[in-house]
Amino acid sequence: MASTLVAFLLAASSIIPAAQANPVSSTNGSLERPSSSVAQCVPYTIPISITSQNLVFNFTQFKNDLDVAYIITEITRKDSNVTFHPVSGIKNVTTTYSISGTFCSPKKPSGNGREKTVLLATHGIGYDGRYWDSAYKPQEYSFVEAVVKEGYSVFYYDRLGTGKSQVVSGYTNQASIQIEILASLATLIRSGKYTGPIGTPKSLVLVGHSFGTYTSNAVLIKYPKLADAAVLTGIAYAPTNNQPNLFLAALGLRIAAQHDPRKYSSFDTGYVGFVDIAAHVTTFFKAPSYELDAVLYAHSIAAPAAITEFLTITGSPVAPAFGGPVQVTTGEFDYAFCGGECYSSFAQQPLKDIYPKSRLIDSFVHPGAGHGVNFGKNATGFYGGITAFLGKAGF
Ligand SMILES: *[C@@H]1O[C@H](CO)[C@@H](O)[C@H](O)[C@H]1NC(C)=O
Ligand SMILES: *[C@@H]1O[C@H](CO)[C@@H](O)[C@H](O)[C@H]1NC(C)=O
Ligand SMILES: *[C@@H]1O[C@H](CO)[C@@H](O)[C@H](O)[C@H]1NC(C)=O
Ligand SMILES: *[C@@H]1O[C@H](CO)[C@@H](O)[C@H](O)[C@H]1NC(C)=O
Ligand SMILES: *[C@@H]1O[C@H](CO)[C@@H](O)[C@H](O)[C@H]1NC(C)=O
Repeated sequence: MASTLVAFLLAASSIIPAAQANPVSSTNGSLERPSSSVAQCVPYTIPISITSQNLVFNFTQFKNDLDVAYIITEITRKDSNVTFHPVSGIKNVTTTYSISGTFCSPKKPSGNGREKTVLLATHGIGYDGRYWDSAYKPQEYSFVEAVVKEGYSVFYYDRLGTGKSQVVSGYTNQASIQIEILASLATLIRSGKYTGPIGTPKSLVLVGHSFGTYTSNAVLIKYPKLADAAVLTGIAYAPTNNQPNLFLAALGLRIAAQHDPRKYSSFDTGYVGFVDIAAHVTTFFKAPSYELDAVLYAHSIAAPAAITEFLTITGSPVAPAFGGPVQVTTGEFDYAFCGGECYSSFAQQPLKDIYPKSRLIDSFVHPGAGHGVNFGKNATGFYGGITAFLGKAGF
């Protein structure tokens, strides 16, 4: 299946996974936000019962970082589609997972009902839900602050295995589970559950970053009626040769429980994270378009990922039945999906073929930033590009 990963990553117009992170601020039922915040937020712990078709992996669990090094070379070698076969079966698994999420809406609604458009935000590999709500200079970096200021509501959450959500084994946590969790969250939110003071939403927009874009897009494919629009960030759909493998290797993955036992001693060895801040910057940022303190904050909230998450980013991105507006965007220097240069990648994206029924397709390259756009300079400019699209699409 890693072979699938590689084939998938290398294929033209395929989605490529990446590394992302975790959310910060919902704690203990009362969210501490600066008094200047335009948002009021409600934290939730949500039981999600789903059935997913899971891959069963058949490789030896890691004892140490050298075992991780070995599997990274197996995944990223040029002929891994022929040589690496980590999957031994497939089974349907029905379980209830505990997911931690936060709903934020304007303290002062704009009067035009915009707060009834809910942006359901899914973070990528490398962070937790705090990716969407930076506690460092929220006016400059928090997606939540920026979109709530424009009148929208946001629900963001910690993906399975991150933040305050349940942690399952790093040898079983995978895309298929997380896609069903997202679909279930979307259904619950649409029905007016977990939406704080706003009641039943009028519209639901899926917003993703990187692996969160992969799972959001998978929902557009499998459940095309669940969302009214999608904003897909940290992604490009153009051929990148061997770049995703360079990216994966450059993450410098190490066993989280051994690297940082204070935080991760309860995680099994399947959870791996950046070796250090330099690996994080190589893969997510681009000088001089970042502030050192923003990167230090991003690194402080970095979260490990399951090795099997990397191995389950597969399949075609084509969403044949999704009719809503779609926006695709990332930073100019995205190292994961554009090979470090996005203008030419975006010029080659066959978006009309990927979203043949979409009533409005938009894309833009955000100047200066790398893959971790929300923590780069001018993040508010990036959010402005997103809210301008939502406005144009009638939300
Ligand atoms: C949240 O819970 C922790 C641990 O129980 C406690 O130390 C902290 O003061 C609490 N924070 C708030 C805002 O209640
Ligand atoms: C493996 O990938 C190579 C190069 O992309 C391709 O030519 C070959 O057909 C693939 N082999 C298999 C078994 O998928
Ligand atoms: C699992 O991996 C072992 C060791 O590589 C191999 O001998 C065995 O055939 C594999 N089992 C399946 C079901 O693929
Ligand atoms: C899992 O469920 C799907 C959908 O219900 C079904 O098509 C498939 O055959 C099942 N797979 C297994 C291995 O039971
Ligand atoms: C900030 O971001 C927006 C949206 O990508 C862009 O149009 C604008 O040029 C950027 N500003 C600077 C100074 O880079």
